[in-house]
This record gives sequence, C-alpha cells and structure tokens, in this order.
Amino acid sequence: MEIGGITVSEKIFDVAIIGGGGSGLRASLEISKSGLDVAVVSKVFPTRSHTVAAQGGITCAIASADPNDDWRWHMFDTVKGSDYIGDQNAIEYMCSEGPDAIFELEHMGLPFSRFENGRIYQRPFGGQSKEFGEGGQAARTCAAADRTGHALLHTLYQANLKAGTKFLNEWFAIDLIKNDEGAIRGLSCFDMETGEVSIIRCNAVVLATGGAGQVYEQNTTSLICTGDGLGMVLRQGYPLQDMEMWQFHPTGLYGNGSLMTEGCRGEGGYLINSEGERFMPNYAPKAKDLASRDVVSRCIVQEILAGRGCGENKDHVLLKIDHLGADAIMKKLPEIREISMTFADVDPIKAPIPVVPTCHYMMGGIPTNVHGQVITTKNGTDSVIDGLYSIGEAANVSVHGANRLGGNSLLDLVVFGRAAGRHINQNAKEASSLNISKSNIEESLNVFNKIQNTKKGETVFNLRSEMQNVMQNYFGVYRNEKLMKEGISKLEEITNRTKKIHLMDKSNQFNSERVEVLEYLNLLDIANATAYSALERKESRGAHAREDFPERDDQNWLCHSLFFKEKNVVSKREVNLSPKTMDAFKPKARVY
Ligand code: FUM
Repeated sequence: MEIGGITVSEKIFDVAIIGGGGSGLRASLEISKSGLDVAVVSKVFPTRSHTVAAQGGITCAIASADPNDDWRWHMFDTVKGSDYIGDQNAIEYMCSEGPDAIFELEHMGLPFSRFENGRIYQRPFGGQSKEFGEGGQAARTCAAADRTGHALLHTLYQANLKAGTKFLNEWFAIDLIKNDEGAIRGLSCFDMETGEVSIIRCNAVVLATGGAGQVYEQNTTSLICTGDGLGMVLRQGYPLQDMEMWQFHPTGLYGNGSLMTEGCRGEGGYLINSEGERFMPNYAPKAKDLASRDVVSRCIVQEILAGRGCGENKDHVLLKIDHLGADAIMKKLPEIREISMTFADVDPIKAPIPVVPTCHYMMGGIPTNVHGQVITTKNGTDSVIDGLYSIGEAANVSVHGANRLGGNSLLDLVVFGRAAGRHINQNAKEASSLNISKSNIEESLNVFNKIQNTKKGETVFNLRSEMQNVMQNYFGVYRNEKLMKEGISKLEEITNRTKKIHLMDKSNQFNSERVEVLEYLNLLDIANATAYSALERKESRGAHAREDFPERDDQNWLCHSLFFKEKNVVSKREVNLSPKTMDAFKPKARVY
C-alpha cells in the first residue's frame, strides 16, 4: 500500500505488545501459552530493555525471611508509601497475587539468591514494616544479588522463546491505529535496520513501553526510556494520570547517574554528610536510612542546602558500605562495586560512594484498571478503550500513587503483565473482524510523514537538552509556583520551536536521528504533562514537594490528576478506596 509517498507493508497478529521489558514479556508469555498469535515490537533487543538495569529486587510477602510475613502488611506499606493516592483495589491485587507470581518465576528458572536453608533470599528495603507499621523493619525484597532485573528479563525472554512468541526486534512503534468506531486495532511502525514502514493489524495493542526518565537531565534510566506509549496515548486525545509524581532515587551515582541500589542500605549501608555524620536518624528516627525514597531524597537535599554537602562543590553526600566487609560486598553487591569503580573511581570496599538524588521512576502514566485496560474519562465518567491495554511503568494502575516503594516496580511488571495477558486471552476476538480504513492508517503515520518531509528548521539535539535542563531545574525535588511558572514559559517556547523541528538525515538504514526526533516528540509531551499537573496540584504529597504548599491536603487533593494534551487541561479523578477483602486504610500522617 502507498501512503503519502511511502510504501507500507502489512502484518496481522491477534495481539501486538509494544515493549520487550518485564511487563511486555510477562504478558506475551501468558498470551502465547494460550495459543494466540502475539508479536512483541521492541526498539531494542528485548534483553536490553530497561528492566535489565533493576538491581535490588522484587518485593513480595513470600514469607521466606520471616515465616509470619503477610501480604496485608505489604499492602499497608504500599498504601502508606503512596501517600494514600495509590488505588487500594489495585494494591490489594498486586500484593495478594504477588507470591504466586514470584514462585512462577522461580519455577521458570530465575536464579534467585538463597538463604542457607535454600529459600529465596529477601533483604530489607525502604518503607517496609511488619504488623501494619507497628512491628519494626521487614525484609521483603527477593533478590538475585544486585542483578535481579537482569535475571528476571533473561528468564522471561527464554520462556517466551519456548512458548513461540514472535519478536520484531529493533522495530520502532510510531503510533496507534484507531478505527472509525474508536477502537484500537493496530499500530504503525518501522524496521530500524531497513527503514521499512509497516502497519500491524491486531485486536489488541498492549503499551508496555516503560518509563520516560530521559525527560530529566540527570536520571538513572536507559537512553531508551522516552515514554513512547504515553506520547501515543496523548496524541489520541486520551489523558495521562498523576504525571507530577516523579521519583528521585536517593542514591544515583554522583556525576554519572547510575543507580546505586537501595539494597546497599538494606544490607546495612548508610548515608553520611561532609562532617562524617550519619544524618538520617535526625530526620527519620525509626526507619533511618530505610525511610521511603521521597523522604530520604528530601533529607539529602536539606543537608546539601545546609552546607553539609560533600566534595569541592558541596553538592552530594556519601553512601558508606565499607563496614559490611569485602566478602558481603562481593557476594551481595558485586554490580555496585563494579559500577562505582568504573564510573566514580571509588572501590566501596575501601571508601564511601558519592551519591545524589537522581530521577529514577515515573509514578504517573496511562490510567488503567487491574486488567490493564486503558481508561479514559469524560465528564467524570470512566470508560475503557476497546483494544488498548497498558502495563508496567508506562501504566498507572495505580499501585504507586505519589511515591513508589523500592522493589514494587518489578512486582508490578509481572503481576499486571500476567493480568493483562489473562484478560486478553479471555476476551480475544477473531483477527478477521479487524476493520481499519486507509484514512485510519494515514492518520497513524502523520507524525512520521511530517518529520520525513521537513526541509529546514531546528534539529532535535539542542531542543532536547534544553527541555531536559528545564525539567531538571524547574520541576525537581522541591517545587513552587514561581519556579514552575517560569519553567512552563520556557517549555512553551521550546514547544513552539519544536513545531519547526527539522530531520536532517532522511536515509533509511539505522537512521538514529529519525528515532531521536520521534522519541523527543514523546518526551516533550510528557514534560508538558508533568509541568501542568505539578502546577495544578496545590499541596505536598509523596514525591511532589511544594515549598508554597508544604502540607498534604486530603480535603482537596486526595485524588488523581488527569492531564489532557488539548489545551493542557488538568482535571481530577477519584482514588479507589474499596479493596475487596478488607476495609480501606485511612489516610494518616506519614512518619517513618
Ligand atoms: O534501589 C534499587 O535497587 C531500585 C529498585 C527499584 O527501583 O525498585
């Protein structure tokens, strides 16, 4: 077929999953095993997806470290960690289904670390407790040394090969295809090796495109984390939820951004300032260095602002683990040692690691129900979009609310990847019932054609770094109205300049500039979604800390925010406070 001067080929699958990370591969496995024809479209070879970088572990009450552990305690911690805007039905689902999902991975061959008795190793992580916060620190994060994501991703990839999942590796997904009835029935994409453009017709598309950490200048994420699925959703006129909520991990490697796992503190490491003082007990007397991430990140910024930062510029703190001993470090934290030696020239067996809060995780995303079906809202009424699913970091189901607990991300991937797969299997329609018109296809190629036909204008490189710089400086750990308004006017200027963006290289084979332009357009939409949602939420909650509204305001803001691209409108959506098997946890002051 010829569209706008390009030859477009066609493929048909029952289901297409965009993204080959942990959630995409868990969903594809479930679907493949049921006999449906499923394709994973991934812009990198699947085992290079960002899940591979997850270090510390997967949090779940499998009662290995503590035989009395209970998924309800995990649920309580997650609700509290979310600062009460996590949906309690979804958190209940994740925490109660979690143990089964972990044992499934174990049986697939995931090489977990082990206790002496042979059971899966679990370490303490931030924000974990026993007895609904009354029983002290829990150890609930299941780990494969400090390479848990690597182990998980390879296990799932191999299981998919066995199940017969089809892979379109190094294919870039451009946009969704919506038919005249408003159902999603496919996507447009291209093969990055050859530049060949295709459409995939299918009954369901699953957006498993991961996060968008590249929206910030300093982040722990891979270059591929550009929120492509979120851009697609916004272009269809659907909303994104809670986009003001970005997690800054307390321990990104100073000057480099690589993650220094929370597992370092879980194993007994702690933070010190320029005076050599362990400062977290001054802020969080009970949990200390294992308070939740938003809290620890703010404490580090406070220490730096008080002039107790380390180094020549007094702009970071130190993570001390040398006292754990060489054996423990080499056995439990080998990757951390390697990264620290390679990128900071510090051997943590001998000296503390320089660290600083660094953008790590997007709590917001594409609103879904617990089956992964994408939700849109009109006049306060929710409806699901026929044929569209989202899972993993791209989605907002919402189990993390305003602040995610460490190790809950990998659990989210496998629990909701499996849930979406099950729902698709139960509701699969005949692929022959697909009805999309040529104009539906043309529409999905609009962005691609537009950049392909540019003759002159500004290139992506400056635009992208300016946008990242604005996000870093105006929408970081602490926010206020004046700063954010300045940031928004800078983003407006960048958005206007972007209308004339120019793709210099029009060649087909491995055209990395074309990919970068398409990724940047997605990132810019996400930057705007973050900026307008952050300005609108006039309170401090979880990761959203406003100097001008320092208190949490449950009266007005115990709700989700919804951002629509058209006119940058932000509205509110109710939080689910109706778990199935118990009463909801009521909002309380969040102290650690
Ligand atoms: O610190 C870490 O290992 C990160 C884990 C996570 O973000 O869940």
